[in-house]
Amino acid sequence: MYNAKDLVQQAINAKQKAMPTYSNFHVGAALLAKSGKLYIGANIENSSYGLTICAERTAVFNAILEGEREFEAIAIAGDSDDYISPCGACRQVLMELCGKDLNVYMVNSKGEYKLSSMEDLLPYSFNQEFLK
Ligand code: THU
Repeated sequence: MYNAKDLVQQAINAKQKAMPTYSNFHVGAALLAKSGKLYIGANIENSSYGLTICAERTAVFNAILEGEREFEAIAIAGDSDDYISPCGACRQVLMELCGKDLNVYMVNSKGEYKLSSMEDLLPYSFNQEFLK
């Protein structure tokens, strides 16, 4: 069993890696694979705004490239007073690549956090079953 507080702290630390050139909104993510390895991510922005990538997706893609396929939890930390909430695109990616049982810790700028589930974040999700 992992320590949620440690995971949250890793997401807060990962904010330092962000490149929020246009929004100045730093986001860090820490994704724990079932292997026990941790993968961090941070948002990276682009002057062609639509090419910006969120912290969650950099973490997931980083882990996938290392061969990980099973995941335990992700913590996401932002600069906001409220608990950060993953965007719709990231919800779809997290659901498909990390699975419906992923625990999602959403962290506010004070370091407080709340836990949610992928089922709550993305009900009725589109998935591979529809493509058969
Ligand atoms: N952002 C994330 O990285 N993750 C989220 O969950 C919400 C938004 C980033 C995208 C963009 O770089 C900045 O925050 C402002 O939207």
